[in-house]
Parts: sequence; structure tokens; C-alpha cells
Amino acid sequence: MLAGACTREYCTHSQRREKMWPRASVWRSWTAVLAGLACVRAEDACPPACACDRESGTVSCRDGGVSGVPGDVPQWTSTLIVRGRNVTTLRRGAFGANGTELDMATLSLASNMIRVIEADAFFGLPRVHMLDLSHNCIEFISAGAFNGLVELRMLCLNESILPQVAMQLSAALASKSLHNLHRLELAGNRLRSIPLASLDASNLHQLVLVNNSIETINRDNVTSLGQQRRTRVYLSQNPFRCTCDLEAFYYWLKNSSQCPDAALLRCSEPEAKRGLALEKLRGEDVDCVNENLEAVSYVFLGIVLALIGLVFLMVLYLNRGGIKRWLNNIREACRDQMEVYHYRYEQDSDPRLANVAV
Ligand SMILES: *[C@@H]1O[C@H](CO)[C@@H](O)[C@H](O)[C@H]1NC(C)=O
Ligand SMILES: *[C@@H]1O[C@H](CO)[C@@H](O)[C@H](O)[C@H]1NC(C)=O
Ligand SMILES: *[C@@H]1O[C@H](CO)[C@@H](O)[C@H](O)[C@H]1NC(C)=O
Ligand SMILES: *[C@@H]1O[C@H](CO)[C@@H](O)[C@H](O)[C@H]1NC(C)=O
Ligand SMILES: *[C@@H]1O[C@H](CO)[C@@H](O)[C@H](O)[C@H]1NC(C)=O
Ligand SMILES: *[C@@H]1O[C@H](CO)[C@@H](O)[C@H](O)[C@H]1NC(C)=O
Repeated sequence: MLAGACTREYCTHSQRREKMWPRASVWRSWTAVLAGLACVRAEDACPPACACDRESGTVSCRDGGVSGVPGDVPQWTSTLIVRGRNVTTLRRGAFGANGTELDMATLSLASNMIRVIEADAFFGLPRVHMLDLSHNCIEFISAGAFNGLVELRMLCLNESILPQVAMQLSAALASKSLHNLHRLELAGNRLRSIPLASLDASNLHQLVLVNNSIETINRDNVTSLGQQRRTRVYLSQNPFRCTCDLEAFYYWLKNSSQCPDAALLRCSEPEAKRGLALEKLRGEDVDCVNENLEAVSYVFLGIVLALIGLVFLMVLYLNRGGIKRWLNNIREACRDQMEVYHYRYEQDSDPRLANVAV
């Protein structure tokens, strides 16, 4: 828009001069230079609702009732901060006006209600080192969203990704452009697993996954991490399920120093181990063989008991004749006994009499 205004002004200006002055060509070239200067000044102008500090190269745009990203960022911008605006969608080339590249190094887009990031959204920003997209509510992210960010070293996506977007995020993070990424922050996104398909050929030094919904780190992930020894993973505030699924991770934690906040990891399941530090678990607690053996031994005990019971019942059944007889015998023995007793009782009913008689 500004460029258009410049051009129009230049045209009317030069036409007017041509009528008054015969040596138009000289004037045309002069006015062209002047108009060029004016245009440069216009391009340098601070975008509406933004504060510009040329000294530090910072352009800071906060709500101000304006939505969307500022379209005409000055060429000298090294840090652009946009906050509290209703951005909704980051379209292709949202910042680089008309294919011109900007030398910007820091781009902070936290808290702008960004929902959609289209492919090549950061086109024209090849020198951005730090990109902050935290505190948005991203529900769609194109696989090519981060294309062109070849010098990106730090990417922040704290509390920004809706859980169903994890797969898309994984595809977007696989972009070849991100080979320089050193730090990736994904705190507070309710992620259930590490959203990176692979760590091979990555330069990732710090992976921040605190405050997510990770219950276990599977064996594949442990192997990948083990192969990328320079990667550090932050995993506190995740609800770990301390069953034998955690075995590989447990030994990796014990044996490597790649998890700097290892001391803060806690079990959230099973009930009996809730709140227990992962580091305090014993080998048996996560031992699948042990767990299986225990289960097997209980089943085995049950079967043996059932068999004994069955055998007992069968013995009873098969010997029902003998048992009847035996019971009768007992009864008769009892009766005999009783009779003998009875008899003796009658006989000795009055011992005093007997004594007297004697
Ligand atoms: C944000 O912008 C979208 C369309 O661009 C609009 O539908 C929505 O109402 C806006 N939200 C706010 C809070 O201004
Ligand atoms: C971008 O290019 C289009 C035509 O390609 C032009 O109309 C527009 O004024 C240009 N905008 C800027 C900011 O240069
Ligand atoms: C993202 O979260 C991590 C962990 O809580 C924190 O260290 C980091 O400063 C956060 N990043 C931003 C940009 O807020
Ligand atoms: C953890 O993340 C949730 C969002 O998923 C957020 O509401 C909460 O404040 C975070 N907790 C901490 C301690 O940062
Ligand atoms: C981590 O595990 C998830 C879930 O199984 C898988 O999709 C992903 O590729 C694994 N990532 C790495 C780096 O091993
Ligand atoms: C522990 O790590 C060392 C090397 O770092 C490795 O040789 C060893 O096999 C590991 N032990 C276990 C139990 O994973």
C-alpha cells in the first residue's frame, strides 16, 4: 500500500513538471531519486500499532485493537515481537513482503491466538535464530510450516499445541530446514510421546517435554536417545506409569546423564507407587520377567489347589460305599461304647451301696 502511494505521487509529480519545463528528462531523473528516497522512508516507517526502536532493531506490536501480523516490517528489524493480537492464521510468507528477505533474528509470536500455520509461513526469514510460538492454540500445522528456517536454533511451543496435532507437529518438525535446531521447548502440551519421528542427523541439544502426559518412554525412543548422546531431555511433571513397560527407560535413566531433571521424575501409576521417585524404584519393580513370573506362579498355585480339591472330591466319591461303612462302624463303635458305659453306670450306680454290701 505504501509502495503504491509512493509510485502514484511520483507519477503525478513528474507529469506536472514536464508541462512547465522543457528539459523534462533531467527533472524526471531528479524526481525519481527524490521519490526513491521518500519510498525508502515509507518502508522504514513503523507499522501501525507497533513501537519501533531502530537503535536496538526491535519492533514491538501489542494488541492495540489490530489483528493479524504487521505486513510491512522495516528492513532493519532484527527482533519482531507480536503479542495479544488475533492472528488466527499464519499464511504462506506472512512476514517476508513480496519475496524480499528480512534479516530478522528473533521472532516472538507468543499469545496471538494462532490456530493454523500454513506451509512456508516463515518464508523470507532465513536468518531467524529464535522463534517463539508459545501460548497459542494451534489446531493445524502444515508439514511444511517451518520450511526455510535454516538457521533456527531455538523453537518454543509451550502450551500451544492441541493434543490431536501431535502427529502433524511430528511431520512439521521433520523438516530438513530444521537441521540447526538446538533447543525445542514443548512444555504443557499434553503430549503422550516424543513427537519426533527420528533424532538421526539432528542437532538437538535440549528437548523440553516437562508438564506433558507422557506415561512411558518406549524402547525405540530410548534407543534413539541413547544414540544421540548430546541430546538432553527434560521430563519432569509427566505422569509415569511405573510398570515393567518402563524397564528400558529406567535403566537408561540410571545409566546415562541425558536427563538433567531425572531426580524430579515421579510415578503416577500404579496406585501403590504414586508419588514415588523413579530413581528410587528397584530393578524388580520394572522387571517384566519378575512380574510375569509372579503372575505365572499365582496361576500355577491356583491350578494345583484346584487339582488337589478335585482329587479329594473324587476320592470321596469313589469311596462313598466304604465311607458309609466306616461311618456305620464308627456309629456302632460309639453305640457299643455307650452301652458299655451305660451298663457300667447302672452297675456302679450307687458305689456307697456296693461298699456297704461288701
Ligand atoms: C479473530 O479473528 C477471527 C477471523 O479472523 C474472528 O472470527 C474472531 O471473532 C476474532 N476473535 C476475536 C477475539 O477478536
Ligand atoms: C507486492 O507486490 C504486489 C504485486 O506483485 C504489489 O501490488 C504490492 O504493492 C507489493 N507490496 C509491497 C509491500 O511491496
Ligand atoms: C517453556 O517451558 C520451559 C519449561 O517450563 C521453560 O523453561 C521455558 O522458559 C519456557 N519457554 C518460554 C518461551 O516460555
Ligand atoms: C502445565 O500445563 C498446563 C497446560 O497443559 C497448564 O495449564 C499448567 O499451568 C502447566 N503447569 C505448570 C506447573 O506449568
Ligand atoms: C518415539 O515413540 C513414538 C511413539 O511410539 C514414535 O512415534 C516416535 O517415532 C519415536 N521417536 C523416536 C525419536 O524414537
Ligand atoms: C551403561 O552405559 C555404558 C556406556 O555408557 C554401556 O556400555 C552399558 O552397557 C550400559 N549399561 C546398561 C545396563 O545399559
